[in-house]
Amino acid sequence: SMQSVKHVELEGMITVAHRGASGFAPENTQAAFQKGLELGADFLECDVQLTKDNELILIHDLHVDRTTDGQGRVRDYTLEELKRLDAGTSFHPSFAGETLITLDELLRDFYGKIGILIEVKNPAINKGIEEKIVELLEDYPDRKSIIVQSFDVNALKRIHELNKDIQLGVLINGSFIPMSTKYIDELASFATFINFNVTSLDKRTVDEIRKRDCKVLVWSKKDKRLIQKAILYGADGVITDFSRWPVDQEVYM
Ligand code: G3P
Ligand code: CA
Repeated sequence: SMQSVKHVELEGMITVAHRGASGFAPENTQAAFQKGLELGADFLECDVQLTKDNELILIHDLHVDRTTDGQGRVRDYTLEELKRLDAGTSFHPSFAGETLITLDELLRDFYGKIGILIEVKNPAINKGIEEKIVELLEDYPDRKSIIVQSFDVNALKRIHELNKDIQLGVLINGSFIPMSTKYIDELASFATFINFNVTSLDKRTVDEIRKRDCKVLVWSKKDKRLIQKAILYGADGVITDFSRWPVDQEVYM
């Protein structure tokens, strides 16, 4: 029946909790990651940057203002100073006291329980972040359960140079669509995932990528049809803020 076809297809989709289950708890905090685990996601996505004292901190923006009670650039804070900020109240007062966490803390708590999708943010500003990530990942040997992704292809190439076993994902911004087969070949030579925003999905590009044994993940913060579109375009999974895991939403096919 239609029902069982839909179910089988969805069960095969990789589901990623974007910045943790950030629709339900403050992004990139322990609460959001814990929620993603509870909801049964396959991976937790997180954004990593460097503190003033070169520690790997999980935060999306260059500035702390939107997600914490502090002001200014992440890079101007030491880890100890960042840890004093409240990273929960701006999402909802019931999360008051939630703090920023390091990549090290995330891996210590969640590695082995769920996959981790690490996004390298702003490597031009966070200089040396590639080396720090590779060094840390050497303590976490199961390569299948970790993916490092970035919009910055040079950062990914640098990581590949340092350790060929780390799974890599390229984040594509809309201006590269449709992608030339030459560019897909280049990316597929080091990356195992090529990931798109739902607004820049292109069926021919997805087909060409999958022919090269790469997987495609699709992300969106708001699109309620994310899963339907991901299925239609033949993608392998979705990166989303909401409970698309376990499968509990209507699917129109
Ligand atoms: O994982 C894809 C997505 O996280 C990229 O965009 O801005 O949410 O980091 P952004
Ligand atoms: Ca991200």
